[in-house]
Amino acid sequence: MTNTANPLRDPRDKRLPRVAGPCVLVLFGVTGDLSRKKLLPAIYDLSNRGLLPPGFSLIGFARRDWESEDFKQIAYESVKAHARTPFREDVWEHLSEGMHFVPGEFSDPGAFEALAMAVKELDAVRGTGGNYAFYLSIPPRFFPQVVEQLQRCGLAERQDERQWRRVVIEKPFGSDLKTAKELNATVHRVFPEESIFRIDHYLGKETVQNILALRFANTMYEPIWNRSYVDHVQITMAEDIGIGGRAGYYDGIGAARDVIQNHLLQLLALIAMEEPTSFSAEAVRAEKAKILSSVRVPGDLAASVARGQYAAGWQGGVSVRGYLDEEGIPADSRTETYAAIKLEIDNRRWAGVPFYLRAGKRLSRRVTEVAMVFQQAPHLPFSQTDTEELGQNALVMRVQPDEGITVRFGSKVPGTSMEIRDVNMDFAYGESFTESSPEAYERLLLDVLIGDPPLFPRQEEVELSWRILDPITEFWAGQEGVDQYKSGGYGPDSADELMARDGRVWRRL
Ligand code: BG6
Repeated sequence: MTNTANPLRDPRDKRLPRVAGPCVLVLFGVTGDLSRKKLLPAIYDLSNRGLLPPGFSLIGFARRDWESEDFKQIAYESVKAHARTPFREDVWEHLSEGMHFVPGEFSDPGAFEALAMAVKELDAVRGTGGNYAFYLSIPPRFFPQVVEQLQRCGLAERQDERQWRRVVIEKPFGSDLKTAKELNATVHRVFPEESIFRIDHYLGKETVQNILALRFANTMYEPIWNRSYVDHVQITMAEDIGIGGRAGYYDGIGAARDVIQNHLLQLLALIAMEEPTSFSAEAVRAEKAKILSSVRVPGDLAASVARGQYAAGWQGGVSVRGYLDEEGIPADSRTETYAAIKLEIDNRRWAGVPFYLRAGKRLSRRVTEVAMVFQQAPHLPFSQTDTEELGQNALVMRVQPDEGITVRFGSKVPGTSMEIRDVNMDFAYGESFTESSPEAYERLLLDVLIGDPPLFPRQEEVELSWRILDPITEFWAGQEGVDQYKSGGYGPDSADELMARDGRVWRRL
């Protein structure tokens, strides 16, 4: 498929597209939700955009009594249901020619021998060049077995220097610092660091990458991006959904480990870090690691963290059950589905500026955003009544779903008085760009196949993030109950009290 034949490519775009070279992608855990909803559609979208090589091949591996045709049917259905780009029969035909299924248990060496044979055959028949990416979309407890099997059947080792091997791992990268280190050691026994791609899908989001463009491609923000102007920062990840069918994964993990340890701390790092010397993986990761190592949890944990669990309530006009009534959740579970924490950063730029992070499920609506809230003007030459409706200036990076940026500032209300009120100035992706944003997994899968690592956190960042979180989860482990909050609401009262103690309020959800 040539690029000129690709209708999705903008003809005005003169840049050479980043296209993957010959390779096989082996997907472990192909029957899971992530594969069906995100990975398989993303592979199709990449193919549709002409970014995969002609011989690209995909092998699904799972404990199912399937033939390759069954796998193709599942993939077809998930592409039809979830792909971002329009369905094209010719693209699908071409892609599905390279799709195969290998059935087997992770514990069965015979299944991995069969996998090795299937991969070698693809090299011979489809010219995949001995380049393999292994995507472990499976619970981490299986990692040791799978990487050892890959090693045993010879798939982990390159036959010559031009070939590559890459392994992609999904969070959770452990459940605390200790287990993260163990997990890392397991994968490292077989794969060197440069072959390991840790996925944090937030880094694949356009709006998250745009934080770097906003900060480092413009002149107007950086001078005020510091303690002299910023009062505090709020990072919010609110979801309206519950845990769905993920009880097995979620219970005992909770909101802080599920999304704060990774997505929200990565957002914090991008917001707070210094300018990297370049956008090479090394330079970006070094700046993120530097800022994460300056993050401090305030000493008084009881005053700086809050957690809650959703109780029954109403959402979108429908009554929904509470967490403890979800299928598979023990009646005495203390797992938090909402977490709020206050963090401080010990460096010259941010000393004294609190960063408030909150994440929760079954809240009033889905919104992820980063808000920089600025200090009040040092002096207001207006009467108090004229400025009653003037709040603090804010710059809000709207990660999703309404992607864009809002600047909030005071403006004169038309009329004869000098009344001032907050107004919003908006940049919306949908209005400024004709092209739609690729899905995070599209971007990240392509980066894996190309071997481009800046958007993947390295182990140091993972460990630094656990270092921040561990004291908080230990503190909670020692507590008796967990606050309840109504589904469809704004989270537990304790989270509002956390802000109130500092004389602040959360932005409205
Ligand atoms: C995942 C979490 O990492 O992110 C889920 O495990 C959460 O619990 C999901 O629902 C949210 O992703 P997004 O892209 O919809 O914000």
